[in-house]
Amino acid sequence: MRLKGAVVVITGASSGIGEATAMAFARRGARLELGARRLEKLNAVARKCRQAGSPDVNVRLLDVGQRASTRAFIAAALRDHERLDVLVNNAGTGWVGPLHQMPEDRIDELITTNFKGVINATQAALPWMLERRRGVIINVASVAGFRPSPYSAVYSATKHALVGFSHALRGELSGTGIKVCVVYPGVTSGTEFFKGKGPPIGVVQYPASWVANLIVRTARFPRRDAMVAPLRLLHLAEPVLGGLGDHLIGEARRRALLD
Ligand SMILES: NC(=O)c1ccc[n+]([C@@H]2O[C@H](COP(=O)([O-])OP(=O)(O)OC[C@H]3O[C@@H](n4cnc5c(N)ncnc54)[C@H](OP(=O)(O)O)[C@@H]3O)[C@@H](O)[C@H]2O)c1
Repeated sequence: MRLKGAVVVITGASSGIGEATAMAFARRGARLELGARRLEKLNAVARKCRQAGSPDVNVRLLDVGQRASTRAFIAAALRDHERLDVLVNNAGTGWVGPLHQMPEDRIDELITTNFKGVINATQAALPWMLERRRGVIINVASVAGFRPSPYSAVYSATKHALVGFSHALRGELSGTGIKVCVVYPGVTSGTEFFKGKGPPIGVVQYPASWVANLIVRTARFPRRDAMVAPLRLLHLAEPVLGGLGDHLIGEARRRALLD
């Protein structure tokens, strides 16, 4: 796909990976529709995107957990640009701690934001894409989408659900011209993800710009699954790691949480 002039819609663009992704598409001359709940942050990202080369940037309040808000966001993007080439479902949130201590409102928030939010945005965008027989949907999962993370059981479950949803939908849409892709970040620096949500775990950390560049590459060459090199190795080792991986990561997290 040619990105110059393409319309790219990004959820959760007010910080971290979403912000870096907006900048990466802006540098390639894409037109942007950015959504999140913090408008002042979105406006700051939009200013940077215009300076970086995007000819057209709109920001809108968006709560992906609210079906009406998500539908209105996608409808506004289509009204503004009359097209939608790439949908990046990036908005997400996490929680780290023992499951029995996880508050019910956080359980609901993780499920609605990380999973239902993606369904909401995808359902809203699909009729237009199906009619034109084109479009790329990129769902930002996590390494926890294939390597479940102890002390993040609900988060891991939402990302597994997202991977299953994405792969099933990719099959459902084969032959329609629409591609569904999954990007799996690992522990990513320069984000607000771990703010007040427990310590990160993972020896390999890389900047949000790496994930952003991977997302841009995925938009141009829409692969089913995209991950940065160190995680590809972990992905390959997954069938061997199995329960031993659960145990080792569980121990490491327990120690990190006790420190
Ligand atoms: N950072 C990591 O280590 C890591 C690792 C694996 C996967 N990921 C995934 O990467 C994605 C981006 O996270 P990040 O690392 O960039 O963290 P982040 O800096 O906290 O960004 C999360 C983004 O999601 C938005 N968001 C949260 N709830 C929302 C809602 N209900 N409606 C609309 N927007 C919402 C936030 O904006 P507002 O608060 O302004 O709404 C923010 O823009 C998430 O899906 C996360 O699960 C991150």
